[in-house]
Amino acid sequence: MGHGIQNYTCASADATAVNVGALAVLYDVTPLYPGTSGTGVDTAVFANLSSAVLFNQDIPLNLVDPAAASPAVPVANDAVTESDYQADSANPFPSPATDLDLSAQGIAAKYLGHHYFDANSAPTFDLSASTSGLFFSGAKIGDVKPPTTADKGLMATGAVDWLELGDNGRGLSKGVSNVYRVVTAGGVAEACSVSGANPEGQVFSMPYVAQYWFYG
Ligand SMILES: *[C@@H]1O[C@H](CO)[C@@H](O)[C@H](O)[C@H]1NC(C)=O
Ligand SMILES: *[C@@H]1O[C@H](CO)[C@@H](O)[C@H](O)[C@H]1NC(C)=O
Repeated sequence: MGHGIQNYTCASADATAVNVGALAVLYDVTPLYPGTSGTGVDTAVFANLSSAVLFNQDIPLNLVDPAAASPAVPVANDAVTESDYQADSANPFPSPATDLDLSAQGIAAKYLGHHYFDANSAPTFDLSASTSGLFFSGAKIGDVKPPTTADKGLMATGAVDWLELGDNGRGLSKGVSNVYRVVTAGGVAEACSVSGANPEGQVFSMPYVAQYWFYG
């Protein structure tokens, strides 16, 4: 499970926002899979995990405006714009990392690692701190629209596409050959024309949650 932000830029007010990267903290929800002895949750709870995390856990990044991290803020009064979801570029990931703990929703999961885009704009998953060195440096090889029932997110803009990523051949991946991004919640940019929200030429961000399925 990844929880973080999708980055975008707008070339002009009448342009289409272009996705330029993402930052997310990853949690191991494998033990929650329905039917797992002792730890599995109900099928309906698992199917709704992305929504539950998006709407109940603060964005687990060091945001420039920490007040924007609380998921209730934009829902209550729409006072937060995409510019407010900027992470601290120099130091986006909190240290030490914390586990996912949503006791009111009956959901807990261990911290697993980080997702980010590297200097070559490659989607990267670093699970090395919490697993036996797993690391993935990928490239997109397929995408499909999410189901129409997908959670449209904190600002009701829509859920990002479901994706298949393959290894990008740079020799950086360790123990992972494919990653699927599925069951997305939120993450689509507002229109570039939204006044004040999407400054031209600057990176702005939209919160999202997704399941990432890793294959060796
Ligand atoms: C899914 O989670 C969201 C956010 O917590 C909640 O509003 C919604 O009622 C849940 N849906 C189901 C079917 O449990
Ligand atoms: C995404 O934006 C954040 C600022 O919100 C920045 O720290 C991060 O470096 C950006 N990453 C990419 C890949 O654009």
